[in-house]
Amino acid sequence: MKIVRMSALAAGVMAAFASMPGLAEVSVSIEAAKPGPLISKYVYGQFAEHLGTGIYGGLWVGPESAIPNTHGWRNDVVAALKDLHVPVVRWPGGCFADQYHWRDGIGAQAQRPVRINSNWGGVDEDNAVGTHEFLELVEQLGADAYINGNLGSGSVQEMAEWVEYLTAGGKSSLAALRASNGHPAPYNVAFFGIGNEAWGCGGNMTVEQYASEYKRYASFVHAAPGSGTQFIAAGGHDDDTSWTDYLSAKAQGRMDGISFHYYTSPGADSKGKYGATGFDESRWIWTLQQTRRMEGFITGNVARMDQHDKQNKLALVVDEWGTWYDAEEGSRSGFLAQQNSLRDAMVAALNFHIFHAHADRVRMTSIAQMVNVLQAMIRTDGGRMVLTPTYHAFKMYVPFQDASSVPVRLGNNPQYTHGGVSMPAVSASAARGKDGKLYLALVNTNPGEAAEVAVDVDGAGAVSASGTILTAAAMDAHNTFAAPDAVRPAPFAASASGGKLVLKLPAKAIVVVSVQAATP
Ligand code: AHR
Repeated sequence: MKIVRMSALAAGVMAAFASMPGLAEVSVSIEAAKPGPLISKYVYGQFAEHLGTGIYGGLWVGPESAIPNTHGWRNDVVAALKDLHVPVVRWPGGCFADQYHWRDGIGAQAQRPVRINSNWGGVDEDNAVGTHEFLELVEQLGADAYINGNLGSGSVQEMAEWVEYLTAGGKSSLAALRASNGHPAPYNVAFFGIGNEAWGCGGNMTVEQYASEYKRYASFVHAAPGSGTQFIAAGGHDDDTSWTDYLSAKAQGRMDGISFHYYTSPGADSKGKYGATGFDESRWIWTLQQTRRMEGFITGNVARMDQHDKQNKLALVVDEWGTWYDAEEGSRSGFLAQQNSLRDAMVAALNFHIFHAHADRVRMTSIAQMVNVLQAMIRTDGGRMVLTPTYHAFKMYVPFQDASSVPVRLGNNPQYTHGGVSMPAVSASAARGKDGKLYLALVNTNPGEAAEVAVDVDGAGAVSASGTILTAAAMDAHNTFAAPDAVRPAPFAASASGGKLVLKLPAKAIVVVSVQAATP
């Protein structure tokens, strides 16, 4: 085994690794000859809600701002997001979606009404960002739009008219209104959600009530023929599969997917804190263990869909996921601002592997949220911006967008155990990228022990691997405006020695490499 090229950072962690005796060798067998379902690019989707500085300040500064922007959207944040190849953005909520009235956000800015954002801090919502502004953002990003309609406090007519305004051509008066507001061509809206969390902030309904509402909405809300808009029902959360069960069995009207939400909590520490940083190993492993529950939740929901939708028409849309901690000290109540550490990057990577494993049903997800809110990619402060460890995880996994999943078998995988909690130390996922390369992603969850991973492809060994590694000295390592690169990816490469390719994973590390298989 020989590491041939390495950055200073990776060389440092490898040196620490070299002194660790007696590591068990984990085997990873990639079955490249048996490609599975496509991993939709939409699995790497984002969520931007009218919440805190998630939009106002973090993304939107307005055209008159001194912060460099294009038609109001900040250039620095948009450029960084473009590097993630953001495939889809969900907007305007979340809970906010069910209090949003789309006509408030069209026409001359000065004439738009000011409303109170009662879900999130009771702040003034001046509707500076509305339909046209959001659709310009996704255009700047090169992403698709996932617009979430208001079922809770809106009406069937209001939602039907919004979809017509968005997608209609011809002589429709709503299309003419859209044109008069600057966009003659119909918009491309890839996804449209009918309400959000109807069991909670979206109206406190039972699934039976929601299904009956859905039927009514689906009867009247139509995208223009040929627009291809897919409709997503608001579904359940956590371990409750009853929404997926009932909706996939009984709901009537066009439905292309059912949403599902699950947030990862670290559990309270001895001081009752759910801290984003400053946690000990018990909160590390608990967080990772909690996030791994996503596997069981998806399996449970998919089983319900498989029972009622034998043709696999419905997608399971995990359109809210990620970590939820105590709000950052000093941050405004209701703004859900939190720091983001190496632990969050691990959470992201473990979830990616789960989504890949269920690629046939999980055809879209959106992490909560894109900027400044919960498990964000980017944090801003005035004109400053910092990329989080989660951002780096998303960037490392770009090759998995629209890749063909490939089965991976792990052997001799040690358990990582701490304080009575236990999980397999190594998680793996593989895919054949659009570029034809074979990609392997590995996560070593153990913060105290490295792992050696022997890789073979179709039983024929592998020659080399190269890509990137994300790790840091501390479990809660994070990036700040003062130290923006404390956690950042470094190059990672290895070559076979004696016909065997072994990757040395440091403790608490994520590695994504392209693997060159041995010629049979
Ligand atoms: O992402 C924050 C909130 O969490 C969303 O608005 C809501 O849907 C969920 O409860």
